[in-house]
Amino acid sequence: MNYRHAFHAGNFADVFKHALLTRMLVYLMRKDAPLRYIDTHAGKGLYDLKSEEAVRGAEWRDGVGRIASADIPAAIESLLKPWLDATGLRSGQEPFEYPGSPLIAQALLRPVDRLILCEWQERDAARLESTIGRDKSVKTFHLDGYVALNANVPPPERRGLVLIDPPFEEPDEFGDMAAATIRAWKKWPTGVYALWYPLKRPDEAQTFVEGLAEAGLRRILRLELDIARRREPGPLSGCGMLIINPPFPLEAEARELLPWFVKTLGRDDGAAFRIDWVVGE
Ligand SMILES: C[S@@+](CC[C@H](N)C(=O)[O-])C[C@H]1O[C@@H](n2cnc3c(N)ncnc32)[C@H](O)[C@@H]1O
Repeated sequence: MNYRHAFHAGNFADVFKHALLTRMLVYLMRKDAPLRYIDTHAGKGLYDLKSEEAVRGAEWRDGVGRIASADIPAAIESLLKPWLDATGLRSGQEPFEYPGSPLIAQALLRPVDRLILCEWQERDAARLESTIGRDKSVKTFHLDGYVALNANVPPPERRGLVLIDPPFEEPDEFGDMAAATIRAWKKWPTGVYALWYPLKRPDEAQTFVEGLAEAGLRRILRLELDIARRREPGPLSGCGMLIINPPFPLEAEARELLPWFVKTLGRDDGAAFRIDWVVGE
């Protein structure tokens, strides 16, 4: 496996994924009861935006770089604030590092909550563990995230969120993600599942979505963002997230955030968003 998130950290897909992840965690924390966060493909946790990998593609400049230099309207800023705080992004300041999903969740969650973080690449798993530091709330595993997911659901808290964010380098990553999600959902149907996917060939994402619906999963919200016209082959310019059991306000919040992302991150007239329910109640 060659995937290195260091090339992509802080790009438009991270903005989309992490801003929405943050909104869901904020909502789940409105109840005092503890929650569990399971990150099946956690990455190494913190990314140096001045590193050779980050500089080579400079993807972050069209992601967090644009956010840092944008004029953010007040309504959007209040939605983005927990993410901006957790990532250290400051308006008007060029970022020099960017945290990944595990560090964002760690920054947001409370001492009563628990985090399970899995990373398959040995070096990145070791880096993740040292970046997380001593934190009794967090368990980091150098394991296949799909295997770990199955072993960790349902969590004792019976409430929480699973983020599945694979690199999509395996030929049937959509199939693997669907199978793992269906298996986990059967054991824990009330969990919130956030499944990230690239938009390259629309048919593969559609087949994946239909597979989940056919397996009986309900309450599936689809959120997608394109920042440019899709070109095949070409750099990734669109991605989506399926949310199973989304927290109640997420759809309305996404209806505010995604048009602003289109405006702020869009590169040509192919920039667009989609919000729909694949399956309702
Ligand atoms: C897209 S990155 C994750 C980014 C991270 N979730 C974030 O938002 O900051 C995908 C990660 O999954 C790791 N990975 C690949 N296959 C895996 C597997 N089977 N189980 C766990 N991690 C895996 C890769 O090494 C890579 O670090």
